[in-house]
Amino acid sequence: MRPSAVIPDGPFRLAMGLQALKLDAWIDADADLAADLREKRRLLAERPGEVLAALPESAEAQREALDLLAEHLPRRFPDLYRFASGGLHVVPLGETVPLDAALAPIDAAGRLVQEDLCLMQADAAGDYCLTAASLCFPSRWRLAEKVGKPLAAIHAPVPGYDAALAKPVDRFFALLKADKPVERSNWSVYDDPALFQPCGHGRKAPDPTLTSENAGVRLWLRAERQTLRRLPRTGAVLFTIRIHRWTLDAAVADRRDAAALLDLVRTLPPELALYKSMPAIRAPLEAFLARRAS
Ligand code: HEM
Repeated sequence: MRPSAVIPDGPFRLAMGLQALKLDAWIDADADLAADLREKRRLLAERPGEVLAALPESAEAQREALDLLAEHLPRRFPDLYRFASGGLHVVPLGETVPLDAALAPIDAAGRLVQEDLCLMQADAAGDYCLTAASLCFPSRWRLAEKVGKPLAAIHAPVPGYDAALAKPVDRFFALLKADKPVERSNWSVYDDPALFQPCGHGRKAPDPTLTSENAGVRLWLRAERQTLRRLPRTGAVLFTIRIHRWTLDAAVADRRDAAALLDLVRTLPPELALYKSMPAIRAPLEAFLARRAS
């Protein structure tokens, strides 16, 4: 993924932004595969309660998600994944992930790919709720606060979601077809490249050590590439989240990308800007982008 792909032109708009997804592009493996999978293993060992969750009703859907990945990965990336006795071997990691009952299927699935994985299932009222997840790389949210909740409640902290997105997203979930997967992306500017970031919304105090001179290496464009696909057997929806991040310097190497990001930052509604902790970084960020854009 290139940074320009996540920086839309024009003023900021809170939008669904869904695009058709070719299944070949479902999972996005790159040179960081082994490093990212090692980081997942560290988090799973040190703080399992924060990065893994599964409600009992998700058992079948977890299995289906793992089966789909186990079928897809060695076919799509034959150099990276091979069937081995006891499971699926991740070549760059030198480790075989068990596909039997040794791990919860959502845990095994999460250990195979750089993506985080969330399973959404309809409750009795038809609302899609988060029933299982392997979520090692959150962008400022806590899995434990969202498990079991429907989409509207999951998004309660997002300013404008209720008014602009809640209805279309719910309708989209009800109508999603198994053979019509989609993708979308989100962007933010962070002052920390860590993959695991469970908190950090609403920061107001400017960081006095951040300047327009060092913003290029101290700030990071963080993008989430997300995919949504209906699992045909159980009807659950599998939501994948893949983090990409670039130093600001690398992200806006092109003058036009700097101008586009500056336009987005300047046109963020104030509540959304605060949600994204813009006040903490805004002045040096805008000065850096304006210089780069000129
Ligand atoms: C079409 C589907 C979806 C749309 C359009 C959507 C839209 C959004 C938007 C606009 C944000 C704010 C992000 C930002 O700019 O910083 C957000 C945040 C978030 N989304 Fe979604 N989303 C979708 C699906 C999902 C699903 C399936 C989950 C399931 C886990 C999810 C979980 C979250 C969480 C946890 C946050 C952060 C909330 C917080 O700050 O506590 N989203 N989403």
